[in-house]
Amino acid sequence: MPAISPHDGPVAVTGCSGFTGGHMVRELAIHGYEVRACIRDANSWRGKDAAEYLQRVSNVTLVDGCDLFTPGSYDDAFRGCAGVFHVAAVLGNSADGKSQPHGSGDVSQDVYNGGRVGTANVVGAVNASGSVRRLVYTSSTAAVLGAKARTVPDGYEWTETDWASDEVDEERWHSARSSYARSKVDTEHFINKAADESGGRWDAVTMNPAMICGPLLFKAQVGQWVEALGRIAGGLVPFSPLEYDRDYNIIDVRDLVKAHRLAAESAVDHKATRGGNRYILHGSGGRSSLRFSTEVREIIHEQFPWLQLGEPKAGGGGGPTFVNDCKKAKEVLGATIRPVEETLRDLVESSVELGVITPRVKAAA
Ligand SMILES: NC(=O)c1ccc[n+]([C@@H]2O[C@H](COP(=O)([O-])OP(=O)(O)OC[C@H]3O[C@@H](n4cnc5c(N)ncnc54)[C@H](OP(=O)(O)O)[C@@H]3O)[C@@H](O)[C@H]2O)c1
Repeated sequence: MPAISPHDGPVAVTGCSGFTGGHMVRELAIHGYEVRACIRDANSWRGKDAAEYLQRVSNVTLVDGCDLFTPGSYDDAFRGCAGVFHVAAVLGNSADGKSQPHGSGDVSQDVYNGGRVGTANVVGAVNASGSVRRLVYTSSTAAVLGAKARTVPDGYEWTETDWASDEVDEERWHSARSSYARSKVDTEHFINKAADESGGRWDAVTMNPAMICGPLLFKAQVGQWVEALGRIAGGLVPFSPLEYDRDYNIIDVRDLVKAHRLAAESAVDHKATRGGNRYILHGSGGRSSLRFSTEVREIIHEQFPWLQLGEPKAGGGGGPTFVNDCKKAKEVLGATIRPVEETLRDLVESSVELGVITPRVKAAA
């Protein structure tokens, strides 16, 4: 199987101005890899901020102008690489209706195509490289959990054999609200087919993370869950549309990127494992599903007792969803999961250090 190591040549990472992409570069660099860090616009504020951080990391070369919607724009970055970590996607900050100069202008269409069409461009560059042996794709538990939730028993353990498209209502599946999950499902299938068609030149592994959290390396990484949780520590309501109370299925970004690296380096036949070449990355056991208004706030309070904490608005739906405890990733890859207390502590500390939140001290009793 085409496992890779730092001996095999450079590796490339897509979406390096993002939260996971930035951490992926760091993880690979500290393990001895020469890393090509792909960003799409080094002159955007996120691009500049990311570049300032990434240029300080040893053995990292920035490659600017890599846009998912531009065929051929990853060719230079991937040439001569042994592995590619495809982390970029249209979501969060970049799915705000303003951040896709080469998109359609329709957010749900860009979310879908950022995965499916963007990944076709990434695969085109993998094939053109002639050197890439393994592609590690960042999918989501959004491609695992889905309509089946209506029929499974309480406490059902979701595993890599589950697909969000199982038992789905076709009309709903093709509606704008399913564009992210549909993009991830279709892109996983697309990548697997492309790997098969490569005739053994390269193979693919997919990582399926839950909600990603942990320390910020640079300010442009603020967005989605790290922003929502940071705001609670800053005494604010989590931002819209995440302002309501809800359960939070956590994975630490550092554990996630380590699992990506292990997947690239593992000599196991990923396709032959249960559920195929996909690995759910989700928090540890009973602490993995946390309610914003109670458990998350309690953990932050225990570690930062002086702080006035924000509170999500009442009315968020849903109860805990039981995803397995990263069992397969732990058994097969040797993935490790740190305590969620550490994840939240490091998020709060880095948010203060970078000036993202300003701690507010509770009024004296
Ligand atoms: N956040 C979560 O909780 C979560 C959960 C499960 C799975 N995931 C998946 O994990 C991966 C990383 O997520 P994240 O939260 O770290 O994302 P993020 O912080 O929003 O970063 C997304 C990255 O993708 C890049 N990007 C967006 N549109 C692009 C385009 N047209 N061309 C090239 N690059 C583009 C962004 O670049 P710009 O800065 O230039 O926009 C950014 O570098 C994604 O595949 C996501 O679907 C995330």
